Amino acid sequence: MKKTLFILLMAAWQLASAQTALNTSKTTLVLDTQNGRELGISYYGARLVDADLGQIRFSGLRPEGAYPAFGLKGTTECAIAVTQADGSMTLDLKVTGVERTSWDGGETITVTSADPIYPVIVKNVYKSFYDQDMIETWAEITNTAKASKKNPQTIVLRRYDSGCLPIHVGDVWMCSLYGSWANEGGLTTEPLTRGFKVIKNIDGTRNSHTSHGEVMFSLDGKPQENSGRVIGAALEWGSNYELRVQTNDSDYHHFLAGVSPENAEYYLEAGETFKTPALAYTFSDEGLSGASRNFHHWGRKYRLAHGDVERKILLNSWEGVYFDINEPGMDQMMGDIASMGGELFVMDDGWFGEKYPRLTDNCALGDWKVDKNKLPNGLGWLVKTADKHGIKFGIWIEPEMTNNPSELYDAHPDWVLRAPKRDNVYGRGGTQLVLDLSNPAVQDYIFSIVDGLKKEIPDLDYIKWDSNMNVSAYGSQYLKRQSHLLIEYWRGFEKVCNRIRAAYPDLTIQACASGGGRANWGVLPWFDEFWVSDNTDALQRVYMQWGTSYFFPAIAMASHISATPNHTVHRTTSIKYRIDVAMSGRLGMEIQPKNMTDNEKEVCRKAIAEYKRIRPIVQFGDIYRLVSPYDDKGYASMMHVAADKSAAVFYWWKIKNFQDEHFSLAKFAGLDPDKMYKITELDRVDVRPLFFEGRSFSGKFLMENGLSIPMTNNMRYPEMNSDWSSRVLLLEAE
Ligand code: DGJ
Repeated sequence: MKKTLFILLMAAWQLASAQTALNTSKTTLVLDTQNGRELGISYYGARLVDADLGQIRFSGLRPEGAYPAFGLKGTTECAIAVTQADGSMTLDLKVTGVERTSWDGGETITVTSADPIYPVIVKNVYKSFYDQDMIETWAEITNTAKASKKNPQTIVLRRYDSGCLPIHVGDVWMCSLYGSWANEGGLTTEPLTRGFKVIKNIDGTRNSHTSHGEVMFSLDGKPQENSGRVIGAALEWGSNYELRVQTNDSDYHHFLAGVSPENAEYYLEAGETFKTPALAYTFSDEGLSGASRNFHHWGRKYRLAHGDVERKILLNSWEGVYFDINEPGMDQMMGDIASMGGELFVMDDGWFGEKYPRLTDNCALGDWKVDKNKLPNGLGWLVKTADKHGIKFGIWIEPEMTNNPSELYDAHPDWVLRAPKRDNVYGRGGTQLVLDLSNPAVQDYIFSIVDGLKKEIPDLDYIKWDSNMNVSAYGSQYLKRQSHLLIEYWRGFEKVCNRIRAAYPDLTIQACASGGGRANWGVLPWFDEFWVSDNTDALQRVYMQWGTSYFFPAIAMASHISATPNHTVHRTTSIKYRIDVAMSGRLGMEIQPKNMTDNEKEVCRKAIAEYKRIRPIVQFGDIYRLVSPYDDKGYASMMHVAADKSAAVFYWWKIKNFQDEHFSLAKFAGLDPDKMYKITELDRVDVRPLFFEGRSFSGKFLMENGLSIPMTNNMRYPEMNSDWSSRVLLLEAE
C-alpha cells in the first residue's frame, strides 16, 4: 500500500515538473515546461548525463522564470511588459505546449505560452548549435485578437526582451566591454553585487560604441582565461539594446537582454507577431578563452559573412592621404602595397561629389559620383590600375547618411531623420544627417548605391561601409508611429543588406562605424569584418583587440599597420611592434608607404609573406589568451592554435617599459602535450636569433613552463629601435 502511494506520488511529481532538456556537445539547458505554469529554466551548464538530468530537481535547483511577464509578479525583473487593448498593464503567460524539431546543426525547442484571459501568445524558441556549444533564444509575441472597425485591439509592447537567464549566486563575476571612438573594446571585470547592473546603448546606429551587447559571467570567482566555468551571452541586434542583471533577495542573478524599450514602445496590431532578435548563449568550463572559442566557432560558421574564406591583406588610404585623393597618389599607393605583397587597395573617403566636391567631411554624402577633378578617368581607371599592379580594388561609402549640402539632400529633404515640425540636427562636419531607412524609397536608393558601383565596376572586390552619426533627430518623416523609428530603421537596414547579399554574394564588406561602432553579431551576417578602431596605436590596440577577441574572431578584426607618431595618440612604436600587433588580426596597412624608409618597407614585405604562411592559423585557429594586459604584468600574450594542433602562433607584446624589469614566463596553452613543436621567430629584426630559435619542445613543457622572452629587441636597423618590444613565434609540430 505504502509502495503504491509512493509510486502515485512520484508520478504526480513527475507530471508537475515536466522538463525539456536541450543538449549541445558539452552543455545542457533544462527548461521547466509544465503545462499551465510559467516557463522556467532550472539548469544551464556542463552537459548532464541522463541519470543526473532525471535528478536535477532533487538537487535543490528550482526553475526560475525564463520569460517573466510584468503585472502579476513580485519584484523580479520582467522580460516582457505590455499594455493590453483595454488598458490593463498585466500579462500572465502559462505554458500550453512544447515542440521539438531538428535542423542540420542541432535542435530547436519552441515553448508556447498563452495568457488565459487576454489575446497574447508568446513562443520562446531555443535553438542549439550542437558542435559549437551555442544556444540561441528569442521570443515571438503574437496579438491573437480579432480587430474590428470600432476596436483595433492594438497591444503596446513596453518591454520585449529576447530572453532571461537565471544564474545561481556564488562568486559570480561579469566581463563587459566599454569604450567609444578611438578607445573601443575596453574590458571591465567586476563581481556581481546586490542591485542592478545595466549595460545599454542608445546611439541608434553604432551599437558597439559606449558599450557592447555581449557579456561573460564567470561562475567560479575572478575570471580566468583558461580555467573555470563561464557563461557568455551576445545579443544579435544592430541597434539600441539593454542588458540587465538583477541581484535581489533570491538565490539567483537574473540576466535579461533585448532591444532597448526606451522611447520605443511597439504597437502590436491584431494578428501581428513581433519577433525579437536572438540572444546567443554559450557555456564553457575552459575559462573565458573557452567561451570565446565557442563564439568564434559559431560566428565563423553561422554568422560572419564568408567565415571560412581567407581575407586579403590590404592597404587603406585613410591615414595615408585622408581626403587628398588623386590619380597619381592612388597609383603610387597601389604600386607600393603590391610591391610589399599586399592583395587589395581600398580608397577611403574623399573620392566623390560633383556639385559639392568632398574636400573635407562637411558635404556630398549621398552623391556617389566620382569627383572628376580628383579622378578624371573615373572608377574604371582605378580598377584597371589595381589590375595593372596585380591587386584588387575596394572603395569607401557611407550609404546611410547624407549632408546638407548634397545633391541628394537638395532632391529629397524628406528622406532624412527629422522630427515633424522640428529643424535638422546635424552631426559630423556640422552638416551630416542620417537617412530614414524605415522609408522603402530610401531602402531602394541605398541598394542602388552598391548596385550602381558594382554595375559600373564589376570587379569591385571590397566595400568599406561606414556610419558616422547617431540618431540625434528622433523622428521619421515617413512613419506614422514615431516610437517604431529604431526598429523600423533596423528592419530597413536588414532588408537593404539582404538585397545586397542576394545580388552580390561574393563582395567583401567591412562594417565601420566611426571605427569599431558595429562590432556586433546582429550586424556581421552581412559583413566580412569590422574596423576595430580608428585608433591604430599598437600599444592601445593590444588592449582593444584583447577585449574585442572575447566575442569576435581574428578573421573579423581589421588590424592595420600605421605610421608613427601615431595619428591619434602620437606614440612612437617600432615598425616591428606595429606589425606584431596587427598580425594577430586581419592584417592590413593604413599608412602612406612613400613616407616609409626602405628598411621599413623591407620589414613589412617580409612580415606580409610570413603572415600569408600563418594566415590559416590566425584566421581559422583557436584563441588562447595567456596573459592579460589588464593584469598589469608588464606584457600581454596570447596564441592562435590550429584546430588539429599541428601548428600555433604565439604573440608576446611588452606593455610597459622600465629599466631592470623582470617578467614571468608566459605559459603556452592549447597545444598537444605529446607533440614536439619547433619554434621559429616571425618578423625577426634582431641581430641575434632567440635562444630557442629552431629548437623543439614538447607541448607539455611549453604549457607547464613556457619560454623566457627577452625584454628588448636588438634591432638590425638601429633607427627602428623603440621602447616597445614584441615577439611572434611560429610553432610547428614535428
Ligand atoms: C570614419 C572611419 O572610422 C575612418 O576609418 C574613415 O573611414 C573616416 N570615417 C572617413 O571619413
